[in-house]
Amino acid sequence: MENPQTLAELNALMAHMHPRVEGGERAVPGEGPIGAQVAFVGEQPGDQEDIQGRPFVGPAGQVLDRALQEAGIDRSKVYVTNAVKHFKFQQRGKRRIHQKPTAGEVKHYRWWLARELDFVAPHLVVALGSTAVLALSGKALSVTRFRGAHDFEERKGYITVHPSYLLRIPDREAKAAAYRDFVGDMRAIRKMSLQTV
Ligand code: URA
Repeated sequence: MENPQTLAELNALMAHMHPRVEGGERAVPGEGPIGAQVAFVGEQPGDQEDIQGRPFVGPAGQVLDRALQEAGIDRSKVYVTNAVKHFKFQQRGKRRIHQKPTAGEVKHYRWWLARELDFVAPHLVVALGSTAVLALSGKALSVTRFRGAHDFEERKGYITVHPSYLLRIPDREAKAAAYRDFVGDMRAIRKMSLQTV
């Protein structure tokens, strides 16, 4: 393995990496400033992210953006990335159907995520959903049980749900309540990141 010295070098290597998952050929890098107070880690790029080459720009990204805004967090000041760097999908007709990455696939990308976070050096790392938890902790911890402040080895961390989970809740009231809790997490994250400076 080559030894990248900067985030730009890491991303250049990643752009040529062979996908470990079946589907997208394009590695989607993280986005945001080096030295950001907070880094958000999602699962993997989705359809829109694969097309645009940017993380969290599709429907889940819109939910995240709205919650960040409501909590007073400026997205342009945080770092946003994914545990798995390629979009895993199955083609059904014209649609590309998202497939959850296996534990082995998540493990394969862990080195990339760890180097990326070393370069960005955020004060707080937020796991959005179970795949990010697995990638950051190396363990399959329950998001429901461990939701809230939770360190990942030497990194100060926080666990919450993935925004696409909120999109899938069918009942309107349950969905609104889950969204409010998610915004509550974002507010707690804002407070925690302010405490670390
Ligand atoms: N879901 C993710 O986990 N990451 C993205 O970038 C988009 C959707």
